[in-house]
Amino acid sequence: MQVTHELNLDLRKLVSMLAHTVDLVGVDDYYHGRRVGMLLVRLARRLGYDTDAQHLLYDAGLLHDCGVSTTREHRSLLNEMEWNGAQSHCQLGHDRLSDFAPLAHFAPLILHHHTRWCELSGGKFDPQLVIRANLIYLADRIDVLSAPYYGDVSLLGHTDEIRAIVARHRGTIFAPELVDAFLAESASGAFWMPLLSTEDIQAFQASMAKRSNTIGIDWQTFHRVARIFAEIVDAKSPFTHEHSTGVARLARHMAQRHGFDSDHCDLIEVAGLLHDIGKMQIPEDILEAPRQLTDIETDRMKTHPYVTFQILDGTGVLENVASWAAQHHEKLNGTGYPFRLAAERIPVESRIIGVADIYQALAQERPYRKSMAPDAILGTLLSGVKEGGLDAGIVELVSADLAGCHRAAIGNPTVHGASL
Ligand SMILES: [Fe+2]
Ligand SMILES: [Fe+2]
Ligand SMILES: [Fe+2]
Repeated sequence: MQVTHELNLDLRKLVSMLAHTVDLVGVDDYYHGRRVGMLLVRLARRLGYDTDAQHLLYDAGLLHDCGVSTTREHRSLLNEMEWNGAQSHCQLGHDRLSDFAPLAHFAPLILHHHTRWCELSGGKFDPQLVIRANLIYLADRIDVLSAPYYGDVSLLGHTDEIRAIVARHRGTIFAPELVDAFLAESASGAFWMPLLSTEDIQAFQASMAKRSNTIGIDWQTFHRVARIFAEIVDAKSPFTHEHSTGVARLARHMAQRHGFDSDHCDLIEVAGLLHDIGKMQIPEDILEAPRQLTDIETDRMKTHPYVTFQILDGTGVLENVASWAAQHHEKLNGTGYPFRLAAERIPVESRIIGVADIYQALAQERPYRKSMAPDAILGTLLSGVKEGGLDAGIVELVSADLAGCHRAAIGNPTVHGASL
């Protein structure tokens, strides 16, 4: 693939975009990563760490759960002090970030953020890594122990209990000096109060974001970032495994056949990778329901492209990509969602991603139906044209190369560009 793009990427914005996506898996609680980041900075200050270390730890707090994609796993991590299954999200988060050079230095911290201090210490690992990974573990558990009391704001009545639980694990789960710093810092109510206020959490995030960290990255590196997002959302359910990557490949294939140049195809491919990141907010019970959804569930499901837009809009990276990704459920007859756009406001790129999305989804099995064969999928797309929802010219791209489109959708590496 001819790579001609050069992008300036604000790493701090990227980290918060990734964190926003990952936090959505909390469904009802979007602030776990941000609270952990805030706790880390409070403890880092008490420990006398410099500003660079405080920022690094804040970002690590935002990112620490980037290996979690399912609401079920999120719940288990939040319900148990030491959960047996915790290591898999550490490994997955490590693997996701270690592949992407600008954030790879977080990978070892994430790998060990559920390892007991007594297993980490002893000279096997770099002492700075040990103490920082353990600090993330501590901040994470403080938030988990506090979480049951956020709803009714009763946290201040339970802080002694939480401090006692942490103190019991001094020298085993947590490093003694970290527990001591926590006990000293958390003696006052002021340590706990910001955890109760979403305004405080957001204001803290805004203050940390003031220090931007812009780097120039090439297109392949940016593509890798988009792949990380796609992997996170596709891992949410076995039924959507590789859905986003399949949509991206098929959209690129169709865009090439439509006549867009290579740079433009790159952008469409990235929009395909990102189109469903808003689905992180939809619980698996809805995504995997083996039956017709209720009206309330359908309404909930319909929020996902809007959430995609919220995450991508304003990142300043690629505005077109944000719109194309978020418009994949719009229909030419104005019945689509979330914007109910009229035909003239739906660009060709969004129409391509919309058709690629339907094709790829129908080619996959769902809990309520088997995967469909190419001819049957084409029949469904043609019905969509007849009903006035889909663009006849775009569906024609599929019918003119049904076998090629099918291979692109389900992932035959000989069909598409070298980038996927
Ligand atoms: Fe966590
Ligand atoms: Fe979607
Ligand atoms: Fe989709």
